[in-house]
Amino acid sequence: MIFNLENLVRENIKRLTPYSSARSEFSGAAQIYLDANENSFGSPLGENYHRYPDPLQTEIKRVISVRQNVETDQIFLGNGSDEAIDLLFRIFCEPRSDNVLICPPTYGMYAVSAAINAVETKRAALTKDFRLDFQAIENQIDARTKLLFICSPNNPTGNSFPREEILQLIESFGGIVVVDEAYIHFSRSESLVSEINRFRNLVVLQTFSKAWGLAGARVGVAFAAAETIALFNRVKPPYNISQPAQEAILRAFDSGAKVEETIAEIVSEREKLIEKLSEISRIEEIYPTDANFVLVKTAEAEKIYRFLLDEKIVVRDRSRVELCAGCLRITVGTPEENESLLRALKKL
Ligand SMILES: Cc1ncc(COP(=O)(O)O)c(C=O)c1O
Repeated sequence: MIFNLENLVRENIKRLTPYSSARSEFSGAAQIYLDANENSFGSPLGENYHRYPDPLQTEIKRVISVRQNVETDQIFLGNGSDEAIDLLFRIFCEPRSDNVLICPPTYGMYAVSAAINAVETKRAALTKDFRLDFQAIENQIDARTKLLFICSPNNPTGNSFPREEILQLIESFGGIVVVDEAYIHFSRSESLVSEINRFRNLVVLQTFSKAWGLAGARVGVAFAAAETIALFNRVKPPYNISQPAQEAILRAFDSGAKVEETIAEIVSEREKLIEKLSEISRIEEIYPTDANFVLVKTAEAEKIYRFLLDEKIVVRDRSRVELCAGCLRITVGTPEENESLLRALKKL
């Protein structure tokens, strides 16, 4: 299908004169800064906090561009990838007229963001074994479908979708395909970031909240063609990544090797946890996972959930989610945490 970015963008966004912040009008070095109504006397906490942060997070993007082999203008940083999801709606979806397509069960924020932005969510459920249903997807797409969300590895099912299938969707869909790779670092599959030069309708989301262990910093990443990233930058709040968050990411880059080690540890713990869970008779099925969590099916999800809560262990009850009846989603913990979980399950 022919892709034309100009035709997808909302009229008000095309006409928008973006806010021009003090720090984007002057980004050189001066001795005295009296341009941004900051507190010239400093902050009670630290050196940098009385100044507004870099609106375009230049340093962080420079590092990401080298690590991921993309240009800095192909990167957007958001206040979590949740901000990038919300901006996609605000850039592309006309309230009360456009729609988006999701493949449930999947990450809940796509539908919530759609509802907040008064955009209809269409659904093409996964098959019973959690594969993409191409016929259902095709049936749901119409002339007003602007975004197609594919979460791979998928939350809450944990599985990745085959690369070829995702590429097929990107090739055939005339809107934007959003591939959410929040859990990609734990996966056997390769990221699709390398495809953003080939497909102008591809937006890949990643996050520092999972493998990087920085959920509290709230930083997510969108990779896309430069013209799409330029739209994100026009619509985003001027200083959307705080100075402490930017510093946290830069410090984390310095400990890059540790991140790789942690990912390997989590993956190894995941495999051990799966093996031990399979010995527990109350667990009827353990779904294949490529993420840092495991979805398990039980005959008594709510009872087990409540019992674990009494044991001061909280897992996620997904039993009321489409196709997930009886399912609990369990995040892979430290070896000690996983042991405690298994001990509690055996006690039940
Ligand atoms: C699939 C998926 N995408 C995005 C997010 C949100 O990530 P962030 O913390 O970057 O907002 C989550 C959080 O659980 C997720 O599961």
